[in-house]
Amino acid sequence: MPVIRFVREGQDVECYPGENLREVALREGIELYGLKGKLGNCGGCGQCITCFVDVEGASDAALTAPTAVEVQKLRRRPQSWRLACQALVQQSLAVVTRPQAGLADREALLAEALSRPLPAGPLAWPTPVEQESEEPETSTDPAGETASAAPTATSDEANADGQQGR
Ligand code: FES
Repeated sequence: MPVIRFVREGQDVECYPGENLREVALREGIELYGLKGKLGNCGGCGQCITCFVDVEGASDAALTAPTAVEVQKLRRRPQSWRLACQALVQQSLAVVTRPQAGLADREALLAEALSRPLPAGPLAWPTPVEQESEEPETSTDPAGETASAAPTATSDEANADGQQGR
């Protein structure tokens, strides 16, 4: 599975290909928002422009192409910035959250994060395991009692008693 390396947090997170970057970050407890975004954000609609991430050093194929909303909203921001809510993860990449907040030793941290290998990850979701259908081993009569093919001791005894009586 693709791995998202969160540089600021020093954390690697696995996700499925095609997962939304914002949703993965929130699920894993990664703080995606600065103060403005914490006070109020659009919930992932691409309207508040508070879920910035910097994906400098990532391949173009790591995330889906910028949406029309991103292109319009990020036109005055660095080219390596994305809106996490608009990006779907396709391959492993390193991400700097809240790039607008600054990060001491950013260049060194990013270089170190990019120097460690990132698994490429598959390009598809895992194939679900098919479950075998189970057929009942015994039949059930309409009254809800389970019938058994083996004769019971009681019926054997009844037959024996019947034969003895003849
Ligand atoms: S959450 Fe509002 S733009 Fe991404």
